[in-house]
Amino acid sequence: MKRLGILLSGRGSNFEAIARHIDKNKLKAKIAVVASNVESAPGLQRARQRGFDAFFLSSKGLSREAFDRQVIHVLQEKQADLVCLAGFMRLLSPAFIQAFRHRILNVHPSLLPAFPGLDAQRQALEYGVKVSGCTVHFVDEGLDSGPIILQAAVPVLDEDTEESLSARILEQEHQIYSKAIQCVLDGRVRVEGRRALQISR
Ligand code: GAR
Repeated sequence: MKRLGILLSGRGSNFEAIARHIDKNKLKAKIAVVASNVESAPGLQRARQRGFDAFFLSSKGLSREAFDRQVIHVLQEKQADLVCLAGFMRLLSPAFIQAFRHRILNVHPSLLPAFPGLDAQRQALEYGVKVSGCTVHFVDEGLDSGPIILQAAVPVLDEDTEESLSARILEQEHQIYSKAIQCVLDGRVRVEGRRALQISR
């Protein structure tokens, strides 16, 4: 069984969706470890309640590289095959990306390359787009810029608030993240330059 290392900084609903898909045998994987850079992250509590190994890793006073070395150490010790960023609000150092090249996924609440970075749903509302959504992509050295594995679109309604749009997008995040993880674990995704291509079997 392939092993997932999950990194989160907050609520942890994407982590929980992954755990639910695994429980229902819709995602064939095992959560090897959950780690967070935020001690009070609700996602860390939820992980502990579910009985997973869950660690707070402090970044206080550490350079990005030094913090990332700690994270890499934990992921390697727990033999993670794939790293899933689930609301992990830190940029990764090049050394981290190299240690897990094409083995780090992220979910982002917009149709990338539109609205990278923070507050993607607010950016979408403020821009006035009529369609937004979410993206699962490989993580590279840039900000939300790696090859795209899956996307899902949702409408933006005139009456939407940041909360209502975020909730509509989040529902889709919870679906496509596990799908993308399964595709990658099954070796059904091949990266060619910017493109992540699905290998049909
Ligand atoms: C999710 O909406 C995720 O897409 C976003 O943070 C939220 C985390 O929610 N991530 C980013 O914006 C990364 N750039 P969760 O903690 O409930 O999974």
